[in-house]
Amino acid sequence: MRSANEPDATHVAVLLAETIVALRPALHTGAAVRCVDATGGRGGHSAALLAELGAADTLLILDRDPSAIAALRARFAQDSRVYIRQARFSQLAEVLAALEWERVDAILADLGVSSPQLDEAARGFSFLRDGPLDMRMDPGADRSAAEWLATATEAEMTRVLREYGEERFARPIARAILRAREQAPITRTLQLAELIAQVLPRHETGQHPATRSFQGIRIFINRELEELEAFLPQAMNALRAGGRLAVISFHSLEDRLVKRFFRADDYRISADIPLRASELPPLPWHPAGKALRAGPREIHDNPRSRSAVLRVAERSERHAA
Ligand SMILES: C[S@@+](CC[C@H](N)C(=O)[O-])C[C@H]1O[C@@H](n2cnc3c(N)ncnc32)[C@H](O)[C@@H]1O
Repeated sequence: MRSANEPDATHVAVLLAETIVALRPALHTGAAVRCVDATGGRGGHSAALLAELGAADTLLILDRDPSAIAALRARFAQDSRVYIRQARFSQLAEVLAALEWERVDAILADLGVSSPQLDEAARGFSFLRDGPLDMRMDPGADRSAAEWLATATEAEMTRVLREYGEERFARPIARAILRAREQAPITRTLQLAELIAQVLPRHETGQHPATRSFQGIRIFINRELEELEAFLPQAMNALRAGGRLAVISFHSLEDRLVKRFFRADDYRISADIPLRASELPPLPWHPAGKALRAGPREIHDNPRSRSAVLRVAERSERHAA
């Protein structure tokens, strides 16, 4: 059987050992445990979880991408502990209800896109390889990036590039897209990448000029932040007391959401309300340990891990989410 991270794997799982160590306290209970890998990808984290689990334990693996699902089915075909479903992780509660899994012990989400998604030109995520401007993780879902760019207003494009791409030159890029699409539809990845490169000042950063815009469009098209916002409470609600949720994020927008949710900031009563800390309602979960990042060796071996942040929360003993 393949190891979790063998060199010919098409996606190298990030913070793998750290994730398993962080979830371990929830995995060995003396009874059969149920785990969820909400973002199966090519199965690196799932394989490591399965190596940790016993014969009576089970693992549900989700992914929204049908190519990932096919690869996961092939990889884990021989393992009767594994359940695989094509679904968005915002549908977690629904999938668990259909399986009649009332409580789970551990949940993992390794957010963002996988290397095969980025590397296959036909998926349309890459500003380095020419392909149709698609960017959907699930090619059956909603509209492609090209369809959106064909009709989006200047204001909408500016907002997406600025908010999700954190692109300082959002407005000039949006205007250039509007001008270009009057001449011909923007349908190819390199067509868009070159258009953006013409707008941005040269040598403005060390990265490709289209990096931030492509990230922004991808996050918007796949509704990545909405997915995460919907997923976090469902995941926490599915955990038994003492169960753990681990989330690996790859940019500050995601990480901020996770951090705020884990600290239950939204559940705290405002500082102006005259109550002592002891009178506040107890929080239904708490962060377990500090945020973890990849070390220099992992970053050297897998540059994609550079921006990864792992956060873990534990469902508290006494209180319902
Ligand atoms: C970073 S990769 C996961 C890699 C995986 N941990 C591994 O070791 O191979 C992220 C995966 O999550 C999937 N994904 C992203 N957003 C999703 C969502 N909202 N629901 C379900 N799957 C999602 C992507 O299709 C992709 O396959």
